[in-house]
Amino acid sequence: MALIGVFDSGVGGLSILDEALRQLPEHDYIYLADSLNAPYGEKSSEWIALRSMELCQYLAAQGCQAIMIACNTATAQAIAHIRAELNSIPIIGVEPGIKPAAMQSHNGVVGVLATEATLKSDKFNALLATLPSDCHFIKQSGEGLVPLIEAGKANSEETLELLAKHLITMQDAGADTIVLGCTHYPFLKKAIRKLLGDSINLIDTSDAVVRQLKRKLETPQGKLTNDKAGTVKFISSKDAETLHNMAQELMQSDLSAHHTELELVSTFK
Ligand code: DGL
Repeated sequence: MALIGVFDSGVGGLSILDEALRQLPEHDYIYLADSLNAPYGEKSSEWIALRSMELCQYLAAQGCQAIMIACNTATAQAIAHIRAELNSIPIIGVEPGIKPAAMQSHNGVVGVLATEATLKSDKFNALLATLPSDCHFIKQSGEGLVPLIEAGKANSEETLELLAKHLITMQDAGADTIVLGCTHYPFLKKAIRKLLGDSINLIDTSDAVVRQLKRKLETPQGKLTNDKAGTVKFISSKDAETLHNMAQELMQSDLSAHHTELELVSTFK
């Protein structure tokens, strides 16, 4: 069995952990939330790169055999350096699913909701440049949404109001597909459907990201298997108990099937 580290600026990466527990429940996980510093999306590239490296080094020192950067913002700003530094373990990142969106859109109008730091990153813009020019992408920063999700208000009136403002340009342009380009945003699916209706196609890459992890964990000898559910340790730079409560609320996975531990890490403050 492998010990897998999953990190995000806060609770967003729980959408990835949820999918990992569904596809790979037998592994042990450490979920590290840097909630003290969320949101990352409005911070400088240098700060995000430095902090993300620090957190991945911490996970590697805990013995993680693979790390998932469950944050589009950190992936965009830091994955190349992290891979170069921690080159003996697989580092899996997340990117806005603009490629599947372009393939799935019927009218070629796609909205991309992501953080400011992701949208302005070289990595995102390089990916965008590889896609056919007949697909029109409407990019929108989701400013203010992450703090509301962190505060447990994903389905509140306040969130609906802010979301409506962020979605208006893509809605007016007739987008039939929206890329959820931040791991916090899958927790807004219900709110988005409430505003735009059930026919809107929402692109969430957590399934693909976990399939990538699965491939990386397969050894030449075959798959690592175990019939028992593994453990999940929740670590937060702010409040591990709140993180655990939010995980129970936001995730579909039955956490009671896993042995869970909580830890507050103050060394990063
Ligand atoms: N969940 C993160 C992402 O995927 C970070 C959001 C933030 O902290 O701004 O981009």
